[in-house]
Amino acid sequence: MNDHVSTHQAEEDARNESILIWVDGKLLPRAQATVSVYDSGFMLGDGVWEGIRLYNNRWSFLDEHLDRQFEAAKAIDLDIARTRAEVVAAVLETQAANGMTTDAHARLMVTRGVKTRPFQHPRLSQQGPTMVIIMEHSRPKIPRPITLATVPHLRGLPMTQDPKLNSHSKLNCILACIAAQKAGADEALMLDIHGFVNTTNACNFFIVKKGEVWTSTGDYCMNGITRQKVIDLCHANGIPCREKNFSLVETYSADEAFLTGTFGAQTPVGMIDGRTIGTGQMGPVTERLRGLYKTLVGA
Ligand SMILES: Cc1ncc(COP(=O)(O)O)c(C=O)c1O
Repeated sequence: MNDHVSTHQAEEDARNESILIWVDGKLLPRAQATVSVYDSGFMLGDGVWEGIRLYNNRWSFLDEHLDRQFEAAKAIDLDIARTRAEVVAAVLETQAANGMTTDAHARLMVTRGVKTRPFQHPRLSQQGPTMVIIMEHSRPKIPRPITLATVPHLRGLPMTQDPKLNSHSKLNCILACIAAQKAGADEALMLDIHGFVNTTNACNFFIVKKGEVWTSTGDYCMNGITRQKVIDLCHANGIPCREKNFSLVETYSADEAFLTGTFGAQTPVGMIDGRTIGTGQMGPVTERLRGLYKTLVGA
């Protein structure tokens, strides 16, 4: 067994054994926090979710996350059956019930709900959505820069399963991650249908070349909120930043590479396909952006 790390690794926190989980309006201990085996999410991955993070009593970019959640629900014709204010209230209720004030991460999930029979047709999901909020104490602890391997699994086209949907069915990304692990890496670097470098299976991807920050055009990847904040921070702080197509050739020789996501903010990448990126350690531009982002979120 190799010493794999995950981009979503956090410090051990015994308090997470006794958290309360919000399930359709009830706050339940972990062991009782369950959904039906007939749930559309369990059975078919038919649902949409968001990951949100609490820093110093503030849920970062909550509006943007709710925009994306409601947009995704509308796209899959799923009625959340709650207003935005009610969703926010549920998040705050869960936070209060768990006594959390900072360094918490929540997964907010809404599925098409319990089905009447165990088949795919959405009309079998008649009982209203299932909504769950899992909120954990969470301080990311990633012991070394992440290693990536490119994999044969591509980012799809918008007309198949749009990669901008944060759907419960993440099988393409999971298969990509499995392939990367089999290749001895931590996470998968995924290409777009043209072969340009796009994203990883769970985070957005950036490189730094000669002082310029590059990321994909944004086609084929999750419209990551952290990704956009990093682009905005670059523009606001005089760091040249380009959203462009680039290939593996340009990537292997980057001075730095890093990932973005709500969970880990900016996570350095040390190796891609066995090639050391820069020094293999966090580079100065990544470090600067991490500092700027920390200030932005008030961490
Ligand atoms: C595939 C993928 N890429 C990137 C991200 C990061 O997005 P954000 O920065 O909004 O957390 C996510 C998070 O949901 C994701 O699922």
